[in-house]
Amino acid sequence: MRTVDLIEKKADGLELSEEEIRFLISGFVAGDIPDYQMSAFMMAVRLNGMTPGETAALTMIMMHSGDIADLSMLKGVKLDKHSTGGVGDTTTLVVAPLVAACGGTVAKMSGRGLGHTGGTLDKLESVPGLKVEQTMEDFIRIVEENGVAVIGQSGNLVPADKMMYALRDVTATVCSIPLIASSIMSKKLASGADAIVLDVKTGSGAFMRTLEESFELAKTMVSIGTLTGRKVRAVVTDMNQPLGMAVGNALELKEAIELLSGQIPETDPLYEVCMLLGVQMLMLAGLAENETDARSSLKAAIDSGKGLARLKRMVELQGGDSSYIDPVKINELCQVKQKIEVRSTKAGYVSAMEAEKIGNAAQMLGAGREKKGDPVDPAVGLVMKVRCGDHVSMNQPLCTLYVNDDRRLNEVIALILEAIDIEDTNTGRKPMVYGIVTDRDL
Ligand code: URA
Ligand code: CA
Repeated sequence: MRTVDLIEKKADGLELSEEEIRFLISGFVAGDIPDYQMSAFMMAVRLNGMTPGETAALTMIMMHSGDIADLSMLKGVKLDKHSTGGVGDTTTLVVAPLVAACGGTVAKMSGRGLGHTGGTLDKLESVPGLKVEQTMEDFIRIVEENGVAVIGQSGNLVPADKMMYALRDVTATVCSIPLIASSIMSKKLASGADAIVLDVKTGSGAFMRTLEESFELAKTMVSIGTLTGRKVRAVVTDMNQPLGMAVGNALELKEAIELLSGQIPETDPLYEVCMLLGVQMLMLAGLAENETDARSSLKAAIDSGKGLARLKRMVELQGGDSSYIDPVKINELCQVKQKIEVRSTKAGYVSAMEAEKIGNAAQMLGAGREKKGDPVDPAVGLVMKVRCGDHVSMNQPLCTLYVNDDRRLNEVIALILEAIDIEDTNTGRKPMVYGIVTDRDL
């Protein structure tokens, strides 16, 4: 086999065999295939796509390029969830403990935040002492006791993805649906879960900006899961405004604690998406017969405080000071030098928000990182005061900034004002949930 012939074949729009894909990926990971050939191949994939069989084969080959977590010691269906990345998306911190309280086994490996979206690990690390790096033995012990743990991915999880992503980033091949789907699913499969619920974000703050692309990504990932013997469902949810009101690490943890304490109404978008994800997880695990039962189990876990107790115990077992997992005490982790209101410069209705800009504003305050390894400030960020569809008057606060370092403050305020469109007429609230994709939809 010659690499150049395989690039040619994909450039001609033909289907590659599993052996041919293995040759390319293994050769690249081993250093036998140079970056320029892998880049040319990935551009051919971007332009011509891949069949479901090719995409599943690519995913399996990538998955086997490094460590694979063995969760077989854990009883029951091992559940995982994944979000393609959103602003103010603190669903994991709510759903994982809630599902555990309903009898689920949630052994989750998570990523760090990069760019405009926050990472679950960074949010958890806002609790003093909490360690997201755990040995496999400790991880399994914590899940066995508590039904839930959230840790960082092992350094050698899917090295093929790290190498490919580094090239995609600089060769305009990030946006290819088969490449995104195989990147995400290879890591999910290597993390060892039997059943995975995927939250595919759509809109201004998401990878996929149109509904059509978002559903295609959702279907591609469900197809990979089904072809590789896992139970996978995907939901497509809105990212045209931050999901929760809080954007920032401790601020988002605080919002998760409030939701788990029953302080956030059911009509709230964050609540709605958390319920949707939790319902799908319970149904995939066979822990609920239908949506209605799943929903009432989840609600009962909020009302009884059992979900919050799981989060608290998880923090403790992972070495953190669990006294902060409390709706009052958590405020101590959100102490900043100054809080600044960003006020509306006109009256009207909030017609749209650019979630990416709001995420970037929080990042500029120190809540997120521009490049891998940058430090984050757990306390800073912002809390939105309005949602799409709300009426605002002149000078009304649109959001509160939590600031420690005010060097980029003017830039941040300008970005927030730019991100929130205010019009004379009310265009109404947007739906939060666009659809659910199961293996029956393929
Ligand atoms: N997230 C990933 O893990 N990989 C991609 O390619 C895109 C988003
Ligand atoms: Ca604008």
